[in-house]
Amino acid sequence: MSNGSLNVVGICGSLRAASYNRMALQVAGELMPAGMSLTMFALKDIPFFDADVMAAGMPPAVAAMREAVRKADGVLLGSPEYNFSVSGVLKNAIDWLSRGTDQPFNGKPYAIISATQGPLGGARSQYDLRKMLQFLNAHGLNKPEIFIGGAQNKFDAAGKLNDEPTRKIMGEQMVAFRDYIQWVKRGYGQT
Ligand SMILES: Cc1cc2nc3c(=O)[nH]c(=O)nc-3n(C[C@H](O)[C@H](O)[C@H](O)COP(=O)(O)O)c2cc1C
Repeated sequence: MSNGSLNVVGICGSLRAASYNRMALQVAGELMPAGMSLTMFALKDIPFFDADVMAAGMPPAVAAMREAVRKADGVLLGSPEYNFSVSGVLKNAIDWLSRGTDQPFNGKPYAIISATQGPLGGARSQYDLRKMLQFLNAHGLNKPEIFIGGAQNKFDAAGKLNDEPTRKIMGEQMVAFRDYIQWVKRGYGQT
């Protein structure tokens, strides 16, 4: 945390340019309350996890990702649902992040948004993602949960979110995430 504001890093588990999950993260960034800002970290240069490569030194993109998570006050994850679970892209990133005594998710507050073109909005991916992050000792915001179903009918091609109920709950989630980050930083309710 620097100059009193909260820096949140946004990580999207989809690589495609027109990703609804990335659009959702960007909208969340716009809806953040004062004193909170979003910086995106793209996973496109993260290689497949290979313990032999890691033994020779973290690849530059991985080192940059680990540093971005370490420095952030919180992490906002955009989680596409692939085959009822987390995308391989996001799982692979978490595998890289999970290694080492300085693993950067340890004690880190996070929140999840998911968007799918089907009706359920990626709920199944979120619960698998939470399970992984539990192992990393990250601290997850429980509520409100954001599952954006039928994303193709809610975002336009420019990434504008036209669905007011979704915008409202996303704004509420960002306020809750701000409060949650501050609560974790205080040591869970201690003054
Ligand atoms: C390999 C693959 C598996 C998918 N599996 C699911 C699934 O299990 N549940 C679901 O709701 N959508 C599934 N979808 C559809 C995605 O939710 C949809 O493509 C979504 O737009 C992906 O997120 P993105 O827009 O951020 O790329 C799948 C898509 C792909 C490419």
